Amino acid sequence: MKNIWLNEAFKGEVPDFHGRVGWACPSNIALVKYWGKKGKQLPQNPSISFTLSECRSETFVTFEKADRLGFSFFFEGKENPAFGAKIEKFLLENQAFFPFINQLNLKVESRNTFPHSSGIASSASSMSAFVMCLLDLERSLRLELAERSKGRPFDINPQKASFFSRLASGSAARSVFPAMALWGRTEAYEGSSDEYAVSLENDIHPVFKTYRDSILIVSGKTKSVSSRAGHALMVGNPYAPARYAQANENIVNLLSALKSGDLDTFINITESEALQLHALMMCSTPSFILMKPNTLNIINEIRDFREETKIPLCFTLDAGPNVHLLYPESEAEKVEYYIKNVLVDYCDRDRWIADHVGDGPKNLLP
Ligand code: PMV
Repeated sequence: MKNIWLNEAFKGEVPDFHGRVGWACPSNIALVKYWGKKGKQLPQNPSISFTLSECRSETFVTFEKADRLGFSFFFEGKENPAFGAKIEKFLLENQAFFPFINQLNLKVESRNTFPHSSGIASSASSMSAFVMCLLDLERSLRLELAERSKGRPFDINPQKASFFSRLASGSAARSVFPAMALWGRTEAYEGSSDEYAVSLENDIHPVFKTYRDSILIVSGKTKSVSSRAGHALMVGNPYAPARYAQANENIVNLLSALKSGDLDTFINITESEALQLHALMMCSTPSFILMKPNTLNIINEIRDFREETKIPLCFTLDAGPNVHLLYPESEAEKVEYYIKNVLVDYCDRDRWIADHVGDGPKNLLP
């Protein structure tokens, strides 16, 4: 796969040109979790996620011809070399695929639509938004040189976008598709790959296309363990082999539940995956407890409420204390009433974010 894009790389002289590209990419929330990697950003097990909508990064890249790579990065209007270093590293590591960057000055400007210190990781949305910009820049370059392909000229290939997003930040591979994505090879899905994610949009029941995700902010602090360190802790974790076997089984069963709209199976797998992710961190060396008391309070409330009302809502967690409350759109009114009257008391300064399944990347400068 890599070789195709190496062969396809634009290797010519960059013409004297300048321009600006801009993309918005959403964050995503995993249902079957990616936790543990191998090789070069390859997952130890396949994962499935909902693509979100309101939590996104908006990134613009302004470019002009130069003698060598020039790079600056601005986050929310201020120059931010620390954030920029990750993108610059990615560019330098992958310059064989994008040799034209060595003849360009790049100014990257990025912002997130979700609030500061909401504890929501932005690497999936920000890295995929940057990769979309890079591929769009490559497209502009080819258009400038009037290198027309047959058929539609130079659409951005979603597989290529997913492949490079993955190299930038694993879970970003899943942020370039509408509705839902599967990343990682599984016998249960033809065309699946460890190298890039695939869209599940056409293989899910309509109920999941408008699913809601209300993100309850228990703590806005950044995580006490980075995901890079977390993945590394899986090496040597005695439960790792059992975890990978279980994740593979969960993928098979979740794919079938997503297709048929079986919400009971969806709920069982989603909650079990969230708790397993946290259990893995509790039994790694060193160990981490990433839930807070209010994370557990919310989980207990959700389970009681589900039992009493029979409303099919459930929770998932990222590698932190905040709770993602997932439910069908048809239940939105009742669930939001319940959030505002009960769950909000467990949130940091009453904060929660109303999100839902979204359409994937959006070109901001079409
Ligand atoms: O993409 P990373 O390296 O930040 O890892 C993401 C890990 C989890 O968010 C905990 C799970 C997932 O599949 O998104």
